[in-house]
Amino acid sequence: MTTMDDSSTAFDDRQYSPAAQRNRGPLLDVLKAHLATGSRVLEIASGSGEHITYFAHNMPEHEFTPSDAQPAALASISAWRKRLYQAVPDARLQPPLALDVGQHPWPLAASSVDAMLCFNMIHIAPWQATLDLFDGAARHLTPQGWLLLYGPFSRNGVLKAESNAAFHQSLQARDCRWGVRDLEQEVLPAAREAGLVAADIIDMPANNLCVRLVRAS
Ligand SMILES: C[S@@+](CC[C@H](N)C(=O)[O-])C[C@H]1O[C@@H](n2cnc3c(N)ncnc32)[C@H](O)[C@@H]1O
Repeated sequence: MTTMDDSSTAFDDRQYSPAAQRNRGPLLDVLKAHLATGSRVLEIASGSGEHITYFAHNMPEHEFTPSDAQPAALASISAWRKRLYQAVPDARLQPPLALDVGQHPWPLAASSVDAMLCFNMIHIAPWQATLDLFDGAARHLTPQGWLLLYGPFSRNGVLKAESNAAFHQSLQARDCRWGVRDLEQEVLPAAREAGLVAADIIDMPANNLCVRLVRAS
């Protein structure tokens, strides 16, 4: 049987993220709990492409579109996508979009996305990327659509887990504009400015959170 993880083509563009391999199962559970049948799902900052390929493999009832700003990530996503289609010819994973959240306009129609995913980006980018993400979500989500953030957050100014505090320091050392964001003091107020509010805040393994944002009523 062919699987997506078959390493017979080891010398292709696929990138591998051990963390993505670990957290894709819990993230799949969150998506299964919230996606309406036949959803159009756009992933922002897909990185290696392992998450969205796994979701497309396991949820063929939805249509998935990956994206990223970096050419190497787009090549990796394409390579994972090719492997998926070898294993599952009728998969519904679109080719990756070249999309930087700061670009105007985004290369997609307004109100055309039922669910937008953004995992592990907002702390590894300048704060402006979070504002651009929320602005894009507000423009491109359907009225009932939602945005799912995943990653580490501090809560009310407190970064509890030692591992996340160390991670924050390492991010700041790499780029002073990066860092773990505070959910209550930074992320939710910015989302609210864009017309988005938290519908669910879900504890995830390894001191991460999923934050599902919907349009304010
Ligand atoms: C740490 S990786 C996360 C990849 C994947 N989502 C995951 O969780 O494994 C961060 C990703 O954010 C992307 N990224 C950074 N700034 C971006 C921007 N302004 N627009 C779109 N993607 C961006 C990078 O290219 C990179 O692939």
